[in-house]
Amino acid sequence: MENSRRAQAPDEARARSAKLRELLEYHGLRYHVLDDPEISDAEYDGLFRELLTLEEAYPELKDDASPTLRVGGAVLDSLPSRAHSLPMYSLNNVFSMAEGRGFVRRMLRLLPGANERDMAFWMEPKLDGLAMELIYENGLLVCALTRGDGESGEVVTGNMRTVRTVPLRLFSREPLPDLLEVRGEVLMNKKDFTALNLRQQEAGGRTFANPRNAAAGSVRQLDSAEAARRPLRFIAYGIGKAEWKDGAPWSTQQEIMLGLGDFGFAAAPGAALCPSLDAVECWYDALVRERESFPFELDGAVAKVNSLELQAKLGFTARAPRFAVAFKFEAAQARTKLEDIRIQVGRTGVLTPVAHLAPVNVGGVTVRRATLHNEDEIRAGDLRIGDTVLVRRAGDVIPEVVTALPELRSGEEKEFVFPDRCPECGGRVFREEGEAARRCVNRACPAVRREAIRHFVSKAGLDVQGLGERLVERLLDAGLVKGPADLFRLEEKDLIKLERMGEKAAVKVVKALGEAGKKATLSRLLAALGIRHVGERTARVLAGAFGSLDALEAAGPEELCRVRDVGPEVAASIRDFFSSQGNRELLRALREAGLRAAVEKSALPVRFSPALQGELLLGEKGQGESGGIQGENGEDRAKSGEGAGVADSPLAGKSLLFTGTLSSFGREEASRLAEEAGALVVGSVSRRLDYLVVGDNPGSKLTKAEAAGVGILCEADFLRLIGR
Ligand code: IVH
Repeated sequence: MENSRRAQAPDEARARSAKLRELLEYHGLRYHVLDDPEISDAEYDGLFRELLTLEEAYPELKDDASPTLRVGGAVLDSLPSRAHSLPMYSLNNVFSMAEGRGFVRRMLRLLPGANERDMAFWMEPKLDGLAMELIYENGLLVCALTRGDGESGEVVTGNMRTVRTVPLRLFSREPLPDLLEVRGEVLMNKKDFTALNLRQQEAGGRTFANPRNAAAGSVRQLDSAEAARRPLRFIAYGIGKAEWKDGAPWSTQQEIMLGLGDFGFAAAPGAALCPSLDAVECWYDALVRERESFPFELDGAVAKVNSLELQAKLGFTARAPRFAVAFKFEAAQARTKLEDIRIQVGRTGVLTPVAHLAPVNVGGVTVRRATLHNEDEIRAGDLRIGDTVLVRRAGDVIPEVVTALPELRSGEEKEFVFPDRCPECGGRVFREEGEAARRCVNRACPAVRREAIRHFVSKAGLDVQGLGERLVERLLDAGLVKGPADLFRLEEKDLIKLERMGEKAAVKVVKALGEAGKKATLSRLLAALGIRHVGERTARVLAGAFGSLDALEAAGPEELCRVRDVGPEVAASIRDFFSSQGNRELLRALREAGLRAAVEKSALPVRFSPALQGELLLGEKGQGESGGIQGENGEDRAKSGEGAGVADSPLAGKSLLFTGTLSSFGREEASRLAEEAGALVVGSVSRRLDYLVVGDNPGSKLTKAEAAGVGILCEADFLRLIGR
């Protein structure tokens, strides 16, 4: 209403305000983006105030692209959300150049005819901030969206308008896109962050743990005037959707970045085109050396295939592009003393050497133990007790001893002699040919028993609630149980005898055991028994194929091998298990204790097909057999609606095999997910195999699969196919 009472802006005011905006944007760019101002701060302020005055006099001159909006103003109750027109992906990570080369090799496999020599990479520092999308329609900034969950983000347009390195209007270079989504990182320089924290501290306000948190908190401010006071920066690294009248003028990542520079965006310093993997390595080494001299924090580098045509061919998995990879900086490392090497005996009797370390902080976490894998590793690394060692921790990865530092030896260090007797039972240990592990073969070994019971009741087994590792140990120590079957005979009165065991807790444990026993399916029981090579996945396959313990026990090696997931080694292990007197007694005791594995309708969509030389096949697609796939909790996923879509899943009816190490999950978990997506995970390569999923350090299966013309999937492909 107020507007209508004001005078219409005369033409000179209109022209002057347009000129002032242009000048302010230009000088803002020179100052904030190019770091090369042409006018003084006072001159800039003069222009700014002049525009402010004009806009106050003639409000119709104000619009969303006015630099006067950079001071913020609106206070919101909450941030609305909006869908991204194209998903904002994450990146696959590698932690070494060797892994990076592996990633590129897998990339090349997806590009028939392409050669490593034809691949150029656009390299950029990986900025440690917050991903952001800025949407420009006809050159005007209309929306700013955080990455959110990748599908939709929070609308933070008001706040991002206050960021000086965000062009409110694309610097008009022809051609101008109708729509351009610019993606990049919002961050805070290290110096600005320190100053902000000081200011906040003095004002009694909130301080931030690091520049990344400060940037994230500031972007998501509800008060844009406050956001305007935060020293945020936007650095572009790519684009989302773009629409041009006469087609896109860019055909490489480098051209995109040059084009964005022309439009007024800042890019990460040091970005370069590397024409080969060797050049990538040189560039990366230089980045590592210069990392500290960057004004903001980096957490690695990003390599992107330069050609947009190849990028399009490679496409995306559900999580990340296949054409780009993040080289994460070396994991955090620290020096400490190797105080001792002790042996841990697992449920299958494997003796694992564990490094006992002087507690040391590695990347914010105190590390006291690290696995040393096996005796060969200790010998290869010439590790001695008393050595100073380098310990590494990468992200969530279990700490490991990288190397000993022999130059720091005092001469007091002791060589570690791997025991030839089990440290728990004193029994002989054996090392089978071709195996790195030594194993205690005494089934009565207290450690093997303890671990076997722990496994039996664990999540991977019968999943008995409230029966943790400590309680198992106490039950064994008190002589209340000797094996898994004894658990099901426990009564409250037995448990109460234990120290610190109240009546309520005792009732709970007995109830949990009763319930677990009742709902134990055949596949759960098989997994709980801890048969070597029979994990949750194989247990499900076996349960689906044989239907009962008796049938499985009666199956000979040939019959077992006809199950597609079962190779000679697994078959032999199953036969060994059933031929052991001790194990047969265990099964009898379990039956006597009332544990009857419920017969599963179908643990997996599998069945024998004599017509196909006895191989186990998936049920016909769409036959509804996927309805029998059991969820983790034993629920029928298809019926509960969760499993809907298995028949539509690209993996439904496909056979799948894994080789190498996956970074997202262990084999068991990966197999379970594959099976839930309707695939059958098999044990060996054959011409019938649909896909081989290749992780890091793949084995000979890869060569075989390539020779057999089997489809090769990298981990990222697999993730996409299972809908992750
Ligand atoms: S390209 C399709 N380049 O890293 C994904 N991302 O870990 C394209 N990031 O969410 C991302 N610096 O926010 C790219 N130079 C850079 C980057 C970068 C930081 C962030 C990005 C992404 C995250 C993934």
